[in-house]
Amino acid sequence: MIVTDSEHRISDICAEWRAEGLSVGFVPTMGAFHRGHLSLVEIAVASSDRVVVSIFVNPMQFGPDEDLDRYPRNLEKDCKSVEELGASVVFTPRTDVVYPDGFSTGVYVAGMSEGLCGAARPGHFDGVTTVCAVLFGIVRPDLAVFGMKDAQQLAVIRRMVSDLRMGIDIVAAPIVREFDGLAMSSRNQYLSVEEREQACFISIGLEMALVLFRMGERNCEVLRNAFLSKLEDAPLLKVQYVETVDPDTMLGVEQVEKQVLLAVAVFAGKTRLIDNILIELEV
Ligand code: PAJ
Repeated sequence: MIVTDSEHRISDICAEWRAEGLSVGFVPTMGAFHRGHLSLVEIAVASSDRVVVSIFVNPMQFGPDEDLDRYPRNLEKDCKSVEELGASVVFTPRTDVVYPDGFSTGVYVAGMSEGLCGAARPGHFDGVTTVCAVLFGIVRPDLAVFGMKDAQQLAVIRRMVSDLRMGIDIVAAPIVREFDGLAMSSRNQYLSVEEREQACFISIGLEMALVLFRMGERNCEVLRNAFLSKLEDAPLLKVQYVETVDPDTMLGVEQVEKQVLLAVAVFAGKTRLIDNILIELEV
């Protein structure tokens, strides 16, 4: 496996593969891998001939008071684990490679990037779409894999790829969870023992809403309240938002017809955790 910080090397390697008729899968990440990230690489390896993984902690998507400086980094271990899974290249660009002097372009997906996490983290999705557009331009993948853990990110990226005719197949990967249901996240390591114990109530609350739905409840306010009432059992958790939205448009939904995404952000102390569940009629 090749590990490189050179944009030109990556572009050349991917161009050669394309010339040979090989398909290129891409997994953009910020590193500090857990099983959630690795599941994306597995999907990419299974669905393309060659796989590029990028590791870049993108300053543009962090707010001034966020955890950019203490964001966990573990390059050597990360490279070893994706090599074992069959990735071909890890791209680790420096910030001045992604954003060279004079860089002036931003990609902004109106509307759907503004609610939920976009409201809580102004400018966050502009940073995500801009860096993904740059990385897509360097790698030019046939497909790229994104986790459903960041459901709004997935929807925003899909919109960008479709609006800008980027011609990349965006593949959604299911949320990978800890043994007690907590969605895996690089930020889980910041939790104190007590916060970690209570954090599992987030997924339990989401499951409660799903159970109610399966019993016939279609009113989204009732589903949101089911989540909120479960969180009352966890005094260290503070809900930032709980919303029911269309998973493609991120627009609010009040009555479930076919499907709805129940998306939440919760603070456990200073650590912000997000999770969601797709509530839909079983076919
Ligand atoms: P990062 O947080 O490193 O996540 C990289 C990918 O892993 C994202 O697609 C995310 O949804 C997925 N992921 C994280 N936790 C997961 C879990 N528990 N189960 C399944 N997938 C999971 O998301 C980013 O980086 C950045 O915003 C990025 C897209 C790389 C742009 O900078």
